[in-house]
Amino acid sequence: MADYKKPDYWQQKARKEGYPARSVYKLMEIDEKFSLFKTSPIRVLDLGAAPGSWSLYLLRLMQRSKTAGNSFLAAADLSPLSREYDKGLFDSGNFFFIQGDITGVAVRETLFAKGPYSTIISDAAPATTGNHTVDAARSLELAETVFFYAENALAPGGNLALKVFQGGDSATLLKRMKTLFGTAKSFKPQSCRGESVETYFVGLGKEYNVK
Ligand SMILES: C[S@@+](CC[C@H](N)C(=O)[O-])C[C@H]1O[C@@H](n2cnc3c(N)ncnc32)[C@H](O)[C@@H]1O
Repeated sequence: MADYKKPDYWQQKARKEGYPARSVYKLMEIDEKFSLFKTSPIRVLDLGAAPGSWSLYLLRLMQRSKTAGNSFLAAADLSPLSREYDKGLFDSGNFFFIQGDITGVAVRETLFAKGPYSTIISDAAPATTGNHTVDAARSLELAETVFFYAENALAPGGNLALKVFQGGDSATLLKRMKTLFGTAKSFKPQSCRGESVETYFVGLGKEYNVK
């Protein structure tokens, strides 16, 4: 029987299944539980996308959908995407990638102009220092930036899933998500490393009359 706790179990599984990072299984679990991508066609924004597992998951999902031609995925990261597993999918006409800082104006305006999106997903995480207070504060800053994207570039009825390190003031962000969405919850996928402080906040059904 597979040892799910072995640190490299998910990494090996990802390579076998053609994904550059183990994080794809977190998105699969979140999607399985909350059905993030129900609209047809889907228009998704993936923030903190490199090396590109989440984007590949979405592009493969879009390929299988009946409205593939009208679906669209935009993605951004400080780093480039890995081209090891995409088999040309990152060159598709319905995919747009921008390399840069999602907290900066240039990236933000480029991505806003390509919206609105039906779902925004973010796995963005700061480079960790080992100091939990500092890391949690930086993670929260990124999560708040992602929330701003959701306020401004997510279509009414749309969904949001963002990563945040537990601790600090993250509970305040979840409260704000509860005012923007019909439902907002914290969810920790099983495929997160046991010792990891990360969790995901999921907002479903952006309200029409806010902002
Ligand atoms: C855990 S990785 C994402 C993995 C990705 N979901 C996948 O499946 O391949 C976190 C990413 O957040 C990105 N990141 C952190 N801060 C960022 C920022 N300010 N702007 C853009 N990307 C950022 C990092 O460069 C890193 O690639």
